[in-house]
This record gives sequence, C-alpha cells and structure tokens, in this order.
Amino acid sequence: MRSYTLIAPAKINLYLEILGDRQDGYHELAMVLQSIDLADRIDLRSNGTDVIRIHCNHPGVPQDKTNLAYRAATLMIDQFPDAFAQYGGVEIEIDKRIPIAAGLAGGSTNAAAVLVGLDLIWNLGLTQSELQEIAAQLGSDVPFCVAGGTAIATGRGEKLSPLPDLDHLYLILAKYRSLEVSTAWAYSTYRKQFGNTYACNTESAEARSVKVNSGCLVNAIAHKDNAKIGECLYNDLEKVVLRAYPQVLQLREAFQRTGVLGTMMSGSGPTVFALTESLPQAQQIQTEVENAIANPDLDFWIAQFSPNGIRVAN
Ligand code: C5P
Repeated sequence: MRSYTLIAPAKINLYLEILGDRQDGYHELAMVLQSIDLADRIDLRSNGTDVIRIHCNHPGVPQDKTNLAYRAATLMIDQFPDAFAQYGGVEIEIDKRIPIAAGLAGGSTNAAAVLVGLDLIWNLGLTQSELQEIAAQLGSDVPFCVAGGTAIATGRGEKLSPLPDLDHLYLILAKYRSLEVSTAWAYSTYRKQFGNTYACNTESAEARSVKVNSGCLVNAIAHKDNAKIGECLYNDLEKVVLRAYPQVLQLREAFQRTGVLGTMMSGSGPTVFALTESLPQAQQIQTEVENAIANPDLDFWIAQFSPNGIRVAN
C-alpha cells in the first residue's frame, strides 16, 4: 500500500526531574512518560514526485521545512535513498487535535508517525528500536512517541524502559489557547535559576537518574496504586513556568482544590493535567474548574491513558 493513516497520540510527563547538564548542551533527565488517547491523525501518501509536501488544518502549525514531521521525512530520505528513488516523495496531511506548544509532544508525535509510516510505505521492515534510533536524531521525545505506553525515560529523554500499562486512568487537560511556552526557554531559565544544584558531571547525573527506578512514582505504577500515582507526580519545570505565568499557577491551584488524585503541569507546559478514576469524575472536575476560572481562553480536554504509540488507523 502506498498510503497510510496513522494515529499519533500526545504524551504527558508524570515525572520530570532535571539532573544536570550534558556535554551536548541538553539536560540529563529522569522522566516517566505516558501516552494519552488525545491524538492527531496523519495521512501519508506517496506522491511519485521528488518533493515532500506538508498540509495541516491548524493555522499555527508550520507547513514547510521547519515542521518536525517534514524533517522526519527528510531524515528518512537521507537514510534510505534507494527507497526514495523507488517510491518518490510524500504528502503529509496532519489533522491537528493536540494543542501546539503545550508540553504534550504534539510535534514529536507527528514526526514519529512519519517515521513509522514511511517504514511501511517504503517496505523497509525496520524494528521499533531501529525507528527509535532514527527518532532520537529529531528530538528528545520522538523515540518515546514511536513506542508509547508508560515508560521511564533517561538521558536526554531517549533512553527508554517500559513500565506496566495504566490504561484505566482518566485525565482532564486544560490550556490557555493563546498561551505557548518555549521548551528551550523553560530549560534555559531553569539552568539560570537552579544550575547550582546540578550534578557536577554527566556520569554523576546518570548515577542519580537510576534512582527513579526505585522512586515513589515507579513503585506506585508497579502496584497500580492510583492514589499514590496522584501524590507522586513531579515536574521540576513547574518551578520556572508557574512563576513566570501566574495564570498557569492559578489553573494548577484550581485543580488542586477539587478532589483529583493529583495535578501537574506537563513537560515545559503550559498544559496542566489532573488525574481521576472515572469519566463522570473527570466531567465534574472540568465543570468545577471552568466555573472557578471562567475564562473563555481556557480550553479543556478529557482523555484516558493509552498503552499505544504510533499505530495505523483501522
Ligand atoms: O529535543 P527537543 O528538540 O524536543 O528539545 C527542545 C529544547 O529543550 C532543546 O533545544 C533544549 O533547549 C531543551 N532540552 C534540554 N534537555 C533535554 C531535552 C530538551 O535542555 N533533555
């Protein structure tokens, strides 16, 4: 088949600890990542030409070479020139449902979908770990997006160890439509403010990252203890983003006042999520927070944890 529709789920960070600087300029991290069923749909079609074209129904998404999905296609062309010569370029159509610049890996999951889709269209037969190795060249979250589910991520975020699935939990996500936070800004601000707490070298940061395996959240996940999972949510980037954006802090506090299992900002934000055990509870909490803040710029989504990474639509 020369065309595929792929489902590309968003992710949230249940845990994000910044351990130190890396020699490549990135940060050494210890994270727990979770796929959710809020997802974009990506149509990929061989176009028989020598170009990549990208289309998206969201005006804020770049439709040129700067789009990470476009860069994913370019990288595949570089790596597999024979397949490109045989099948030609590709049309990438993105039905954007994941909010952009939101801390939900929307761009990363689109890029992951292009890698998985071109592997299928070009009959390459790549393994998941081969796809993830290519994915790591595009961004820190892209390897996780390929496989999805629940996983510990260390290094830049590309070293993954799967955890048991938690697909029964619900979450409410909330984001101010007009507010976007740059991931690079969040990390560099964190470095300026907290660089003095960093591990003194990559080796000692890596040694510290091992501790996430025996930490509160990973234990709670292993025991499927939802109350404990809610209590153990953690994100170092809240220290800079909540201070710089008081409306995100207000949102976080509004969720905290409801009876949620736990609430946290995802990634570099500004999306805030809260966990519940049922759909009616999630709907009730959304109503409470909507009434408490009453701002037409605030969007909500209700989603569920998902065990899936990129998959072909039925
Ligand atoms: O890897 P990705 O392009 O998604 O990262 C976006 C930005 O976030 C990077 O340019 C870097 O500033 C910051 N970052 C970091 N350390 C990481 C991951 C991301 O400093 N492990």
